[in-house]
Amino acid sequence: MKVTVVGAGGNVGSTVALSIAQRDFAKEVVMVDIEKKEDDKTFYPSKGRALDQWESSPIYGFDTYLNGTVDYKDTANSDVCVITAGVPRRPGMSRDDLLEINAKIVDSVTKQLIEHSPDTIIIVVSNPLDVMTYVSYAASGLDKNKVMGMAGILDTARYRAFLAEELNVSPKDIQALLMGGHGDTMVPLPRYTTVAGIPVTQLISTDKLDAIVERTKKGGGELVGLMGTSAWYAPGAASAQMVEAIMLDQNRIFPCAAKLTGEYGINDLFIGVPVKLGHGGIKEIIEVDLNKEEQDLLKDSASAVRSTMDDFHKLMNK
Ligand code: NAI
Ligand code: 2OP
Repeated sequence: MKVTVVGAGGNVGSTVALSIAQRDFAKEVVMVDIEKKEDDKTFYPSKGRALDQWESSPIYGFDTYLNGTVDYKDTANSDVCVITAGVPRRPGMSRDDLLEINAKIVDSVTKQLIEHSPDTIIIVVSNPLDVMTYVSYAASGLDKNKVMGMAGILDTARYRAFLAEELNVSPKDIQALLMGGHGDTMVPLPRYTTVAGIPVTQLISTDKLDAIVERTKKGGGELVGLMGTSAWYAPGAASAQMVEAIMLDQNRIFPCAAKLTGEYGINDLFIGVPVKLGHGGIKEIIEVDLNKEEQDLLKDSASAVRSTMDDFHKLMNK
């Protein structure tokens, strides 16, 4: 089993790679990035991070080989490719500010991956997530079940972590669903949130739950404010969980950005919905019942993603 991570000289990509290696199911993780020049010196961030991480294998106890490179030939016949290449958010920037620069990067990276792994499955992480997943889908020519975006697992994890802290319970016991685009219009769903099977609404006041929902929606921005760049530990772990579900055919149900063709009344748009992940990628898009309020929130979120898609098309036609 072979996985490629592009942008692996950076924060999210290198964390995805290490998180996959620590799960110890893959033979090799190829870590691709570009070379960087500074003061007449050439640096190879993905080679450096791969070597450092491989040197941790005797301590963590994994066999997965981490192979840093700038040459796409090394990625040949990858089962799954994760794209984290691009520019992260800085303070004051929205995910959408990254649109033009990251679209060019994701398009070019996808084409190079497909040249060497024509049947691969692609997980996009670069922002703005839902639109970048579309960009990769269009550039890849792959079936829609083989291209997806990572955001929902991360956003749900933040929501679950905040709830666990507030309720003083283990985060492991909190199950939750969140849908929509990876932005401030995302839709956490309290009606589909339980603590060991107990509806969360029985354990927390409406005010506190509303505050946690709002904090979740701005969870990415909270970390940009604290660190001056965007998060990587939880995003890296979330991406590795998707790779594992696919490679080990686990049939896990996760919220992921998937191409909708009429589900939830939404057409021709990548947006976060619950899917079943296993061999071959997305095996099924699951349509849960939404009440009128939830449907309206999802519709608003779809409009926000569509508006960024329109901006993307305008940029492409400039
Ligand atoms: P980073 O700056 O640490 O790493 C990005 C890496 O991409 C750099 O090493 C850079 O050299 C590389 N890169 C740029 N152009 C490339 C190309 N053409 N080919 C190969 N590599 C290339 O940034 P970080 O923090 O790792 O974030 C990466 C992306 O992930 C950003 O767009 C960020 O917004 C996004 N992100 C998405 C999340 C999500 O939930 N979907 C969560 C966190 C970050
Ligand atoms: C995050 O949610 C910025 O998308 C990135 O952390």
